[in-house]
Amino acid sequence: MTENKSSDWAAYYEKLRDRPPRRTLVTALDRFGASVTDALAVDLGCGDGRDVIEMLRRGWRVVAVDAEPEALKRLQARPLPQGCDLLPIQARFEDVPLPIGLSLVNSSFAMPLCEPEAFHRLWERIHEALPSGGRFSGQWYGLRDSWAGRAGMTFVARDEALAMLEGLELEMFEEEEDDGVTPRGNAKHWHIFHIVARK
Ligand SMILES: C[S@@+](CC[C@H](N)C(=O)[O-])C[C@H]1O[C@@H](n2cnc3c(N)ncnc32)[C@H](O)[C@@H]1O
Repeated sequence: MTENKSSDWAAYYEKLRDRPPRRTLVTALDRFGASVTDALAVDLGCGDGRDVIEMLRRGWRVVAVDAEPEALKRLQARPLPQGCDLLPIQARFEDVPLPIGLSLVNSSFAMPLCEPEAFHRLWERIHEALPSGGRFSGQWYGLRDSWAGRAGMTFVARDEALAMLEGLELEMFEEEEDDGVTPRGNAKHWHIFHIVARK
């Protein structure tokens, strides 16, 4: 099982639909503080919106990008805060321009789901798009992850991840390595970097 076909994503959204926002996102939002109003965030690979909902709830404007129509359908079917400013875009995040004026790029468990060249180019674009004081939050996968070597995915060594983040202030850089199961019940060795970085 590849765990990235459309039918698999639908099962993933269903399984995780009531989960709270990711700790990386919550940390980034907390660091911006309550004084931030009306700021713009982009969520790359937003899924059915567990993080998007939290950003909207805190008054952020959100551009939510996902390649799967089912993800955006489920996001829009959620009870959204009244008057919220949400722009869902169905696209591959490698292809989508990053809007001017963003303060936060969030990509929870999604950015590594593209080829290495696209991953590195995307990171360059994120880095360029972030203003001084802007943040990136999300996860990258390490080399000892049991999915390492799969086509269409990117895995980075700890040193490489740190080199990519050089010049940014690391508000969270946690390396997790663990045997577990995927949300769809398959055994997996996880090797994950949890990142919150401020430019
Ligand atoms: C593991 S899920 C994570 C969803 C959500 N961010 C979360 O934390 O629950 C990965 C999501 O990324 C999307 N995705 C995978 N590759 C993508 C790509 N190249 N461009 C846009 N979305 C992609 C999938 O459709 C899926 O919704």
